Amino acid sequence: MTQAPANEKPEAWTIQRLLAWTADWLARAGSNTARVDAELLLGHVLSKSRLHLLLNFDQPVQGDELAAYKQLIRRRARREPVAYIIGRKGFHDIEVTVSPAVLVPRPETETLVDFAAAYLQDTSAVAGPILDLCTGSGCIALALVRDMEKTGGAREVWATDISAAALDVARGNAVDQARPIFVAQGDLFQALPQGLRFAALVSNPPYVTTADLQTLEPDVRQFEPRLALDGGTDGLDVVRRIVAGAPDWLLPGGLIALEVGSRVQAVAVCSLCEAVGFVHVRPTQVVGSKTYVVTAVLGG
Ligand SMILES: C[S@@+](CC[C@H](N)C(=O)[O-])C[C@H]1O[C@@H](n2cnc3c(N)ncnc32)[C@H](O)[C@@H]1O
Repeated sequence: MTQAPANEKPEAWTIQRLLAWTADWLARAGSNTARVDAELLLGHVLSKSRLHLLLNFDQPVQGDELAAYKQLIRRRARREPVAYIIGRKGFHDIEVTVSPAVLVPRPETETLVDFAAAYLQDTSAVAGPILDLCTGSGCIALALVRDMEKTGGAREVWATDISAAALDVARGNAVDQARPIFVAQGDLFQALPQGLRFAALVSNPPYVTTADLQTLEPDVRQFEPRLALDGGTDGLDVVRRIVAGAPDWLLPGGLIALEVGSRVQAVAVCSLCEAVGFVHVRPTQVVGSKTYVVTAVLGG
């Protein structure tokens, strides 16, 4: 931030001036979301909503608050995701705590939740528990619980991940939100007690091809866990194992809903689903995104 010459009174850092200066600075540092970043970070420091900031443009920011804000925007300029800096991320109808142990929940994954919720609300849906494989922060599982609270459904929800650190975050979110879910650590289905059968299996697994990892924005590449991203040569290493194992864990008529990263992957996943006995297999592109949600129902 530029200083005024010694004989001039420095212009006050109002909210408006600070946001404008920061948005410009962060954009030059490479952020694609510079203005929103500035608002979220300043709102965090002042413990105020973005709306409050916009309604109080002339309010000065000074002293400890200004110093704290400078620290945060320096971190963002080094491309650390805002969600890690403030430790929170809005997702679907809820907000979750995040740390560098988990992927920052993405807006496109809200579509996966919508598909699962629509199935679960349908009167023809199979009765039984729900499984969120590769849960990370627990955002999918907890958004589904929230949806059931609103729509009057009640099902047991299981959430698993191979990462113990990620599951600590998911467990913390469940406790903070007073939304009970069963959390289990392990490699995909190995985390689960034998004998369980689910009405729905929902997952946003790692699906970035190993080659594409290097092309991701520094925000993702340098800060988010590789375990959450790397799906192997064609991105489908984990997805393939999920689809192969799913018939043993789903009830007949149960739903599988998977997020994948491209049309090519979606087409491949549809074939995999058909090969193991799924019917009504459907790939849907997420609006405004390259990602797809593949849904299917277990036949039989
Ligand atoms: C793309 S992230 C999704 C996180 C969260 N569901 C979301 O949508 O934000 C994938 C998650 O899969 C987990 N994971 C990777 N390999 C796994 C495996 N073999 N078994 C279980 N979880 C795995 C990672 O630890 C990571 O938390």
